[in-house]
Amino acid sequence: MNTNQKSDRRCLVYSLLLLVLMGCSEDPVLVEGKQIFKSYCAVCHQAEGNGIPGTFPSLHASEWISGDKGRLIRLALKGMQGPIVVNGESYNNVMTPHGFLNDQQLSAVLTFVRQEFENNGDPVSAEEIGWVRASLNSDDLFIASELAGMTGIPQPSNE
Ligand code: HEC
Repeated sequence: MNTNQKSDRRCLVYSLLLLVLMGCSEDPVLVEGKQIFKSYCAVCHQAEGNGIPGTFPSLHASEWISGDKGRLIRLALKGMQGPIVVNGESYNNVMTPHGFLNDQQLSAVLTFVRQEFENNGDPVSAEEIGWVRASLNSDDLFIASELAGMTGIPQPSNE
Protein backbone atom coordinates (compact mmCIF):
# COMPACT_ATOMS: atom_id res chain seq x y z
CA MET A 1 0.00 0.00 0.00
CA ASN A 2 1.53 3.35 -0.95
CA THR A 3 1.26 6.53 1.12
CA ASN A 4 -1.63 7.90 -0.89
CA GLN A 5 -3.72 4.79 -0.43
CA LYS A 6 -2.97 4.84 3.29
CA SER A 7 -4.13 8.41 3.73
CA ASP A 8 -7.21 7.72 1.57
CA ARG A 9 -8.11 4.86 3.84
CA ARG A 10 -7.48 6.91 6.96
CA CYS A 11 -9.67 9.67 5.58
CA LEU A 12 -12.46 7.17 4.92
CA VAL A 13 -12.25 5.76 8.44
CA TYR A 14 -12.39 9.22 10.02
CA SER A 15 -15.33 10.23 7.82
CA LEU A 16 -17.27 7.13 8.83
CA LEU A 17 -16.45 7.72 12.49
CA LEU A 18 -17.68 11.30 12.24
CA LEU A 19 -20.93 10.17 10.60
CA VAL A 20 -21.51 7.61 13.36
CA LEU A 21 -20.82 10.22 16.07
CA MET A 22 -23.16 12.72 14.43
CA GLY A 23 -25.83 10.07 14.10
CA CYS A 24 -25.60 9.16 17.78
CA SER A 25 -25.48 12.67 19.15
CA GLU A 26 -28.73 14.15 17.83
CA ASP A 27 -31.75 13.21 15.80
CA PRO A 28 -31.32 14.89 12.38
CA VAL A 29 -35.01 15.91 12.35
CA LEU A 30 -34.51 17.82 15.60
CA VAL A 31 -31.31 19.41 14.27
CA GLU A 32 -33.19 20.60 11.18
CA GLY A 33 -36.18 21.70 13.29
CA LYS A 34 -33.97 23.77 15.55
CA GLN A 35 -32.39 25.46 12.55
CA ILE A 36 -35.79 26.31 11.05
CA PHE A 37 -36.97 27.54 14.43
CA LYS A 38 -33.98 29.90 14.62
CA SER A 39 -34.54 31.18 11.09
CA TYR A 40 -38.32 31.65 11.15
CA CYS A 41 -39.84 31.57 14.64
CA ALA A 42 -37.19 33.01 16.97
CA VAL A 43 -37.56 36.50 15.50
CA CYS A 44 -40.84 36.77 17.42
CA HIS A 45 -40.85 33.96 19.99
CA GLN A 46 -37.11 34.49 20.81
CA ALA A 47 -34.29 31.96 20.66
CA GLU A 48 -35.23 30.31 23.96
CA GLY A 49 -38.95 30.36 23.15
CA ASN A 50 -39.70 32.79 26.00
CA GLY A 51 -41.48 35.31 23.77
CA ILE A 52 -41.95 38.94 24.78
CA PRO A 53 -44.62 39.50 27.47
CA GLY A 54 -47.70 41.23 26.07
CA THR A 55 -46.45 40.99 22.46
CA PHE A 56 -45.28 37.48 21.52
CA PRO A 57 -46.47 34.55 23.64
CA SER A 58 -44.02 32.16 25.28
CA LEU A 59 -43.83 28.67 23.77
CA HIS A 60 -42.98 27.07 27.13
CA ALA A 61 -45.35 24.43 28.50
CA SER A 62 -47.93 25.50 25.92
CA GLU A 63 -51.16 23.60 25.39
CA TRP A 64 -51.18 24.96 21.81
CA ILE A 65 -47.97 23.00 21.18
CA SER A 66 -48.30 19.80 23.20
CA GLY A 67 -52.04 19.56 22.60
CA ASP A 68 -53.91 18.78 19.39
CA LYS A 69 -51.60 18.38 16.40
CA GLY A 70 -54.18 19.40 13.81
CA ARG A 71 -54.67 22.75 15.47
CA LEU A 72 -50.91 23.33 15.76
CA ILE A 73 -50.42 22.50 12.06
CA ARG A 74 -53.25 24.86 11.01
CA LEU A 75 -51.69 27.61 13.11
CA ALA A 76 -48.26 27.12 11.55
CA LEU A 77 -49.62 26.99 7.98
CA LYS A 78 -52.01 29.95 8.13
CA GLY A 79 -51.06 32.00 11.18
CA MET A 80 -53.62 33.60 13.48
CA GLN A 81 -54.80 36.86 14.97
CA GLY A 82 -57.09 38.03 17.73
CA PRO A 83 -57.26 37.80 21.49
CA ILE A 84 -55.67 34.74 23.06
CA VAL A 85 -54.64 33.79 26.60
CA VAL A 86 -51.49 31.68 26.93
CA ASN A 87 -50.58 30.48 30.42
CA GLY A 88 -52.52 33.31 32.02
CA GLU A 89 -51.05 36.10 29.84
CA SER A 90 -53.26 37.95 27.32
CA TYR A 91 -52.21 38.65 23.73
CA ASN A 92 -53.98 40.26 20.80
CA ASN A 93 -51.49 40.29 17.97
CA VAL A 94 -50.82 38.65 14.61
CA MET A 95 -48.78 35.54 13.89
CA THR A 96 -47.82 35.48 10.21
CA PRO A 97 -48.53 32.31 8.14
CA HIS A 98 -45.67 29.86 7.48
CA GLY A 99 -47.20 27.86 4.63
CA PHE A 100 -44.21 28.83 2.48
CA LEU A 101 -42.23 26.18 4.38
CA ASN A 102 -42.62 22.74 2.80
CA ASP A 103 -44.17 19.72 4.53
CA GLN A 104 -40.79 18.32 5.58
CA GLN A 105 -39.60 21.65 7.02
CA LEU A 106 -42.83 22.20 8.95
CA SER A 107 -42.80 18.66 10.31
CA ALA A 108 -39.22 19.21 11.54
CA VAL A 109 -39.91 22.54 13.25
CA LEU A 110 -43.17 21.39 14.87
CA THR A 111 -41.57 18.14 16.04
CA PHE A 112 -38.77 20.27 17.51
CA VAL A 113 -41.06 22.63 19.47
CA ARG A 114 -43.15 19.66 20.72
CA GLN A 115 -40.00 18.26 22.34
CA GLU A 116 -38.45 21.54 23.50
CA PHE A 117 -39.38 24.32 25.90
CA GLU A 118 -41.01 22.04 28.53
CA ASN A 119 -43.43 20.67 25.94
CA ASN A 120 -44.12 17.02 25.49
CA GLY A 121 -45.72 15.86 22.26
CA ASP A 122 -45.09 13.08 19.75
CA PRO A 123 -43.50 13.90 16.37
CA VAL A 124 -45.45 15.56 13.54
CA SER A 125 -44.96 13.81 10.19
CA ALA A 126 -44.67 15.44 6.78
CA GLU A 127 -47.76 13.42 5.71
CA GLU A 128 -49.83 14.98 8.49
CA ILE A 129 -48.76 18.46 7.35
CA GLY A 130 -49.70 17.55 3.77
CA TRP A 131 -53.16 16.26 4.75
CA VAL A 132 -53.98 19.41 6.71
CA ARG A 133 -52.54 21.63 3.98
CA ALA A 134 -54.73 19.93 1.36
CA SER A 135 -57.84 20.53 3.49
CA LEU A 136 -57.31 24.29 3.71
CA ASN A 137 -58.33 26.52 0.87
CA SER A 138 -58.37 30.03 2.22
CA ASP A 139 -55.36 32.26 2.54
CA ASP A 140 -56.95 34.07 5.45
CA LEU A 141 -55.37 34.16 8.86
CA PHE A 142 -57.26 32.15 11.46
CA ILE A 143 -59.06 33.98 14.24
CA ALA A 144 -57.60 32.65 17.50
CA SER A 145 -60.99 31.96 19.13
CA GLU A 146 -62.10 29.93 16.06
CA LEU A 147 -58.82 28.08 15.63
CA ALA A 148 -58.92 27.02 19.29
CA GLY A 149 -61.68 24.52 18.42
CA MET A 150 -60.30 23.34 15.05
CA THR A 151 -58.77 20.06 16.10
CA GLY A 152 -57.96 16.81 14.34
CA ILE A 153 -56.18 15.82 11.16
CA PRO A 154 -58.31 15.08 8.08
CA GLN A 155 -57.39 11.74 6.52
CA PRO A 156 -56.99 11.59 2.75
CA SER A 157 -60.32 10.39 1.29
CA ASN A 158 -58.82 7.67 -0.95
CA GLU A 159 -57.34 5.67 1.95
C1 HEC B 1 -44.26 37.66 13.20
C2 HEC B 1 -44.08 37.09 14.51
C3 HEC B 1 -44.24 35.59 14.65
C4 HEC B 1 -43.57 34.59 14.00
C5 HEC B 1 -42.52 34.72 12.91
C6 HEC B 1 -44.06 33.34 14.56
N1 HEC B 1 -45.02 33.59 15.51
FE1 HEC B 1 -46.03 32.24 16.61
N2 HEC B 1 -47.19 33.70 17.40
C7 HEC B 1 -47.01 35.06 17.18
C8 HEC B 1 -48.10 35.79 17.83
C9 HEC B 1 -48.26 37.30 17.84
C10 HEC B 1 -48.94 34.84 18.42
C11 HEC B 1 -50.26 35.13 19.16
C12 HEC B 1 -51.32 35.52 18.10
C13 HEC B 1 -52.58 36.12 18.70
O1 HEC B 1 -52.47 37.04 19.51
O2 HEC B 1 -53.70 35.68 18.31
C14 HEC B 1 -48.32 33.54 18.16
C15 HEC B 1 -48.79 32.31 18.64
C16 HEC B 1 -48.13 31.11 18.52
C17 HEC B 1 -48.51 29.89 19.20
C18 HEC B 1 -49.70 29.68 20.15
C19 HEC B 1 -49.46 30.35 21.47
C20 HEC B 1 -48.28 29.79 22.25
O3 HEC B 1 -47.48 30.60 22.74
O4 HEC B 1 -48.13 28.56 22.39
C21 HEC B 1 -47.61 28.93 18.79
C22 HEC B 1 -47.59 27.49 19.21
C23 HEC B 1 -46.68 29.56 17.87
N3 HEC B 1 -47.03 30.89 17.75
C24 HEC B 1 -45.65 28.90 17.24
C25 HEC B 1 -44.84 29.46 16.24
C26 HEC B 1 -43.88 28.73 15.44
C27 HEC B 1 -43.57 27.25 15.59
C28 HEC B 1 -43.33 29.63 14.56
C29 HEC B 1 -42.33 29.35 13.46
C30 HEC B 1 -42.70 28.35 12.47
C31 HEC B 1 -43.93 30.91 14.85
N4 HEC B 1 -44.85 30.77 15.85
C32 HEC B 1 -43.61 32.09 14.18
C33 HEC B 1 -46.01 35.63 16.46
C34 HEC B 1 -45.15 34.96 15.60
